[in-house]
Amino acid sequence: MITASKFVREHFRTLAPYTPIVPFDVLSEQLGRPIDDIIKLDANENPYGPSPKAIAAVQNLPFPHIYPDPESRKLRALLADFLQVPADQILCGAGADELIDLILRLVLEPGEAILNCPPTFGMYAFDTAINAGTVISVPRKADFSLDLDEIQAQVVKNRPKIMFITSPNNPNGGVISDKDLKRLLSMPILIVLDEAYVDYAGPGASRMTWVEEYDNLIVLGTFSKWAGLAGLRVGYGAFPKELMPYLWTMKQPYNINVAGDAAAIASLQDLDYLQANLQLLIDERERLSQKLSEIDYLEPLPTQSAFVLCNVTGDKQAADLKQTLADHGILVRHFNKPGVSNMIRISVGKPEHTDKLIEVLKDLL
Ligand SMILES: Cc1ncc(COP(=O)(O)O)c(C=O)c1O
Repeated sequence: MITASKFVREHFRTLAPYTPIVPFDVLSEQLGRPIDDIIKLDANENPYGPSPKAIAAVQNLPFPHIYPDPESRKLRALLADFLQVPADQILCGAGADELIDLILRLVLEPGEAILNCPPTFGMYAFDTAINAGTVISVPRKADFSLDLDEIQAQVVKNRPKIMFITSPNNPNGGVISDKDLKRLLSMPILIVLDEAYVDYAGPGASRMTWVEEYDNLIVLGTFSKWAGLAGLRVGYGAFPKELMPYLWTMKQPYNINVAGDAAAIASLQDLDYLQANLQLLIDERERLSQKLSEIDYLEPLPTQSAFVLCNVTGDKQAADLKQTLADHGILVRHFNKPGVSNMIRISVGKPEHTDKLIEVLKDLL
């Protein structure tokens, strides 16, 4: 008797699934609340959503029945201007997520290693497992800074091929310094700098232009956060010139669909609108952090990102707190693993979201 599972590749048999977010309609059913009554602060989405021009562009697609431009020419030309990087070093993906997978597929032979610095974004380790690679972990220090000496030792000893660095890091929101990044770049390893949240760190925080200077640097960005297009799945990356021909050859030709393409182009043509919303979120982050610090059982950490990570103290448990908030229609992430034990991460929302959250948290005192 032939069973289908017998054909599955060995390394997939033990792969733990990624835990994705739950969509609004399912959440609404699970929580027994209308969608409008749910405050979603668990996945760092932009609560202000897309620019009206992006929405109009999606509503008025001229050729939805025709395949999209496989080279995303117009989008890449606008990105070149926005990022100050030559268009021939830019590649777009169905979210930064697709680019992470693409990079791993390009570089890793089965069994080869990446270097990862947890606590950080889970996709690097997950996609490595998908690609039959292994992970060398060099945990961040208690203050979430990188353990550069140990990283250097591991690079020399075990020769990992790629290292992923998130700046600002998810889940704490800290930014890597120029000095530390330069030290990493001096090592014989391909550095992928994930800047999904860099726009929340203020002007000049991005190192996207460094790709012209360093041959071992890739920098990733995304329209999901600053442009509010998470559902349309458009990310971008700046790559060393030498990698571009390989990436063009191996990427799926139509990875950016026409709706995402049109929305991303319209976003780049409405930067003032999106920048104003970003500023609202940055201001709100400071207010949220201040309010959280007034709650006895929470210790918010400094952040330059779209979220605030908090220690949960006293006799309170992060998992219970997350559940209690969910019972009030407020969704946050909780963590309980090395480096992030008994913590919650709260995405920055609109002022009214902060007010409701703080009201509920105060009631639990
Ligand atoms: C650090 C980091 N990188 C990348 C992503 C994924 O971005 P995209 O929506 O463009 O796939 C996320 C999403 O939360 C993230 O936190």
